[in-house]
Amino acid sequence: MSIIAESLGRIKPSPTIAVTTKAAELKAAGRDVIGLGAGEPDFDTPENIKAAAKTAIDEGKTKYTAVDGIPELKKAICAKFKRENGLDYEPSQVSVGSGGKQVIYNALIATLNPGDEVLIPTPYWVSYPDMVLLGGGEPKFVETTAENNFKMRPEDLEAAITPKTKWLIFNSPSNPSGAGYNREELKALTDVLVKHPHVWIMTDDMYEHLVYDDFEFVTPAQVEPSLYDRTLTMNGVSKAYSMTGWRIGYAAGPQELIKAMAKVQSQSTSNPCSVSQYASVEALNGPQEFLKERARVFQERRDLVVRMLNDAEGLSCPTPEGAFYVYPSCAGAIGKKAPSGKVIENDLDFVSELLESEGVAVVHGEAFGLSPHFRVSYATSTEALTEACTRIQKFCASLS
Ligand SMILES: Cc1ncc(COP(=O)(O)O)c(C=O)c1O
Repeated sequence: MSIIAESLGRIKPSPTIAVTTKAAELKAAGRDVIGLGAGEPDFDTPENIKAAAKTAIDEGKTKYTAVDGIPELKKAICAKFKRENGLDYEPSQVSVGSGGKQVIYNALIATLNPGDEVLIPTPYWVSYPDMVLLGGGEPKFVETTAENNFKMRPEDLEAAITPKTKWLIFNSPSNPSGAGYNREELKALTDVLVKHPHVWIMTDDMYEHLVYDDFEFVTPAQVEPSLYDRTLTMNGVSKAYSMTGWRIGYAAGPQELIKAMAKVQSQSTSNPCSVSQYASVEALNGPQEFLKERARVFQERRDLVVRMLNDAEGLSCPTPEGAFYVYPSCAGAIGKKAPSGKVIENDLDFVSELLESEGVAVVHGEAFGLSPHFRVSYATSTEALTEACTRIQKFCASLS
């Protein structure tokens, strides 16, 4: 009999990390590989944030802290929610964890009973279904389509809700599609949720600051205040402030839930890194102007990538509102033969052959629950993106 728990058989390791690892291995073996798999900004953490961390170290702020965050950070988070989202939260309604990932995990572990259903729109961030499964719940998928720009329709949400539905996990702008719901689109969804008081909303607002053109970011409790008492509004410093390695994420919601999440964290990691917490206080309270400047750079890259991918034979790529991903369809390549002689039968074949023949690493759509697509992260330099898209065009043209 295996030592490994049966529950682990139900989940898989993160496929996005697997692609990054595979690309790194090929690089180490001397291949010229461009990685478009990673979900992190290529920008450095701003200097003022680094300086705050150094000061924290010099001042000896290097010991255990309160399990779910120092008071200064909780206060800064409340101020952020008020300033940017018009939401009123008390520090006692805030939980800080080691990355957004841990915060979502805590919330699911703290709330799921066996058989509880969690609605997850496709395509989804890879970790949601597996975290639900680890928590003993049942992921239930709500399909979206490229025609609807990967946005869930209210009627599909309505149809997916059952008496067992505990949560809807909502993510806008989305990883992997970049789709962002405007106020009207989100209101149509919250109107459905208002009718089902047993359903809680976990909104993952990680990509709030990465929105383009004139898109206005909105979050469910802001659009429909009557959902405030059953919404966990989650966010973090990883993507906006280029702080993926610092591991700080946070959420705000009803006190009972926040307390339960702290209980989970108290028996796993305890507090998130003390130095990172002080750095995050500076991130949230310090200058914010650079966020717009970085979003402008990302918007240029998005436009470049969308244009070049749409010029590739057999690909079609919608223009998303935010995040730093695009999610093109490779339906036009299915059934064709790659230079290796292999017939491309699905999006995994497409990305594997692309990596083999042109050295470009992207992630297959199946990992995100919607095929035949693939995810391109454009959080890399314009030069690398231009070269990568040229190679993708060459690969598509080589299919017969
Ligand atoms: C949609 C989404 N939510 C949450 C996270 C987790 O962020 P963190 O690095 O803070 O754990 C990610 C990271 O890729 C993400 O894409």
